[in-house]
Amino acid sequence: MYKIAIIPGDGIGKEVMEATLEVLDALNINLKYEYGEAGDECLKKNGVALSDETIAIVKNSDACLFGAAGETAADVIVKLRQIMDLFVNLRPVKSYPGVNSLFSGLDFIIVRENTEGIYVGQEEYTDDGAIAKRIITREASERICDFAFKYAKNNNKEKVTAVHKANVLKKTDGLFKKVFYEVANKYQNIKAEDYYVDATAMYLLTRPQSFDVIVTTNLFGDILSDEGAGLVGGLGLLPSGNIGENNALFEPVHGSAPDIAGKGLANPTAMLLSAVMMLNYLNEQNNAKLLNDAIFNVLKENKHLTSDMGGESSTMEMAKEVKNKILEKR
Ligand code: NAI
Ligand code: MG
Repeated sequence: MYKIAIIPGDGIGKEVMEATLEVLDALNINLKYEYGEAGDECLKKNGVALSDETIAIVKNSDACLFGAAGETAADVIVKLRQIMDLFVNLRPVKSYPGVNSLFSGLDFIIVRENTEGIYVGQEEYTDDGAIAKRIITREASERICDFAFKYAKNNNKEKVTAVHKANVLKKTDGLFKKVFYEVANKYQNIKAEDYYVDATAMYLLTRPQSFDVIVTTNLFGDILSDEGAGLVGGLGLLPSGNIGENNALFEPVHGSAPDIAGKGLANPTAMLLSAVMMLNYLNEQNNAKLLNDAIFNVLKENKHLTSDMGGESSTMEMAKEVKNKILEKR
């Protein structure tokens, strides 16, 4: 039995979560759900966007599934990552068959530092404007770079690319780049290279096939992963895992999408693939594969897709099709 914290959050977060729980129901696995409130609606109702109770539920769980928060995202998901010390944000960018996209055959991963950078949220007003602090430490840089190289080693990836802006941010990103090459020295069989973030934004469009593992700081990782989503068919497709020493939280890369919320239009794939990542994390490889294959087959069949992928199905209709595929195999 696994204790899973469930935080649906706001907007389409609730819809893709409901769809995902419907699908997980078809797997032969004992998941005990504990629901936590968080986000804009929670703030309105309870006066806080993230309560101590929800934090306790996440802390006591074996893993957490998170939908999306709205305008309170910084006080919810960014805070949860920091409180739980979920220092890695793993964001795989993969092409899926049957999905209309700019590129096919892509398979790279973004390893985003998740606890510091400009997302420490230390901003203050000055007489004339405002200042934000950008914090880069040797310790956090070392562990994220080490995670990226270990990931490359364990997953037969050839190369790790560090992305930074060390020409301008000489002290902060200067340190990140220096530590990256120190760590690279311990992994002689894996190639190491580095690029500036602006050039990388272009390379992702001109030659995305050349990337294997990208390791970068918090804000750059956030931006480049949405660009990655754009390469393979949109935000409805990109899952992520926030991983620490003792806990992990899985969530789609997208947000609460107020423009389509409440209409059953949300693509559940990103949330479903996040559940695949969670099952792998829990060492439930067979169930992870069963779910992954079912999602893969529904995408490939091209018959029960949501409108962002050119289909006509609702969030729940597509999810039910994934569920059927699992039940056929079981
Ligand atoms: P967003 O990711 O919610 O939406 C961006 C665009 O992608 C929208 O056009 C939306 O309709 C589309 N989209 C996103 N997910 C989709 C899905 N599953 N299926 C089909 N289309 C999808 O980002 P946006 O609009 O910048 O932010 C909306 C709200 O979400 C904001 O309040 C923001 O703070 C919050 N947010 C929360 C995050 C989190 O909780 N982790 C992450 C990003 C944004
Ligand atoms: Mg983002």
